[in-house]
Amino acid sequence: MKVVALVPAAGKGKRLRGRIDKAFVTVNAKPLVAHTLTALENSPSIDTIILIVGKRSMGRARRMVSRYRFGKVRSIVRGGDTRSDSVWEGLKAVGTHDGIILIHDAARPCISREVIGRAVRTVKRAGAVCVAVPVKPTIKIVRGGSIVTTPRRDDLWEAQTPQVFKRDVIFKAYGNRLLRKSATDDAALAERAGYKVRVVLGDYRNIKVTTREDLILAGQLLKKRLAISG
Ligand code: CTP
Ligand code: MG
Repeated sequence: MKVVALVPAAGKGKRLRGRIDKAFVTVNAKPLVAHTLTALENSPSIDTIILIVGKRSMGRARRMVSRYRFGKVRSIVRGGDTRSDSVWEGLKAVGTHDGIILIHDAARPCISREVIGRAVRTVKRAGAVCVAVPVKPTIKIVRGGSIVTTPRRDDLWEAQTPQVFKRDVIFKAYGNRLLRKSATDDAALAERAGYKVRVVLGDYRNIKVTTREDLILAGQLLKKRLAISG
């Protein structure tokens, strides 16, 4: 079964407040998304990649793919206004041979080969997989300034990407246009479509770059990884 990775990179990065789209901000002398694509290129679990970028970043994306020789990148498509619109654009570029669709945010450059492998292995029997980590702090449900309840910490997990699906599952999940609009992640759509989504243990280092501080932290984590892998 062929595995295609969709990489949504079309966000503006409003919380980062840069002049260019977040995916193309420089980390350790390379665009953020180049680190993410390197991880996917080096993963034996991934066959091809569809990169999804903003309208104003198409030229940049093409130049980057040829400069870093990302041989698995099969197409670069233009994203939409929201993340789920962008993923939908990517899904339209998926081919008939792609049996498994892995969706991984450009904003998570520190993804490891181990986590990708674990997620892809699990989806073959589970159909839908969400990489997640147990939450460390105590979380409160707060309304109107007061605590309503304290959920059991054992039940709380933080969703990350990759999220991985068999093709019929993700196409059914994305089939409803109205639901699609309001989704914050892909697993939520699969859940609402009635699928059981299997949780696979992620990695606390698989951070999402949202603010300036995250950018610095990601730079350090990526350096450490280079040092370990030689
Ligand atoms: N994304 C996308 N298309 C959008 C919005 C987001 O492809 N219209 C992608 C981002 O590029 C990112 C991932 O979805 O890789 C997660 O989104 P987020 O971290 O929220 O990135 P931004 O939307 O760019 O950041 P912000 O919310 O601060 O503007
Ligand atoms: Mg966003």
